[in-house]
Amino acid sequence: MKTRIIALAAATGLASAAAPALAQDFDAVLKARQGEMRIMAINLGILGAMARGNLEYNAEMAQAAADSLVAVSQINQRPLWREGSDNMSIDGTKALPMIWDDIAGFRADWEAFGKAAAAAAATVANGQEALGPALRGIGGTCQACHEAFREADS
Ligand code: HEC
Repeated sequence: MKTRIIALAAATGLASAAAPALAQDFDAVLKARQGEMRIMAINLGILGAMARGNLEYNAEMAQAAADSLVAVSQINQRPLWREGSDNMSIDGTKALPMIWDDIAGFRADWEAFGKAAAAAAATVANGQEALGPALRGIGGTCQACHEAFREADS
């Protein structure tokens, strides 16, 4: 019963009104958004390895990697970037407060990534030489958003 009351209070916002945000309140959110970024990095890495010749070009594998990037770009981002989950408010994240100061810019950067992923998905099965332009297109969108909205590595 007690847990139900607490859950209800949390759901209605009664419990959290005075309490500062705790990192564990955002645990699932951080795991989800950092996990999606890892999925993106892994799939971009497959395309990169094929482009450099470290991995033999395989049209089907390239297509699967690009399709995965498109799929991630279609995940609803709103619940993953909850206000208060920036690196000034909680530990365990590199998300800059700037995201919430310029949410339109952040969303535009995510959309640019989605467009680049879709463009890549339309070409990567055409041959190894299609990978370079596709990679540069996507990579530029990762970098642009990280420069504006992610804490730089120290
Ligand atoms: C719209 C903005 C945006 C785009 C586009 C974007 N990122 Fe990120 N990325 C972030 C932010 C913000 C973080 C920090 C998240 C956190 O620590 O909570 C991050 C974190 C990461 C991480 C670290 C994840 C971890 O385990 O902590 C990796 C890896 C990453 N991004 C790869 C990529 C790759 C690869 C691309 C392009 C295919 C990309 N990102 C595109 C904003 C973006």
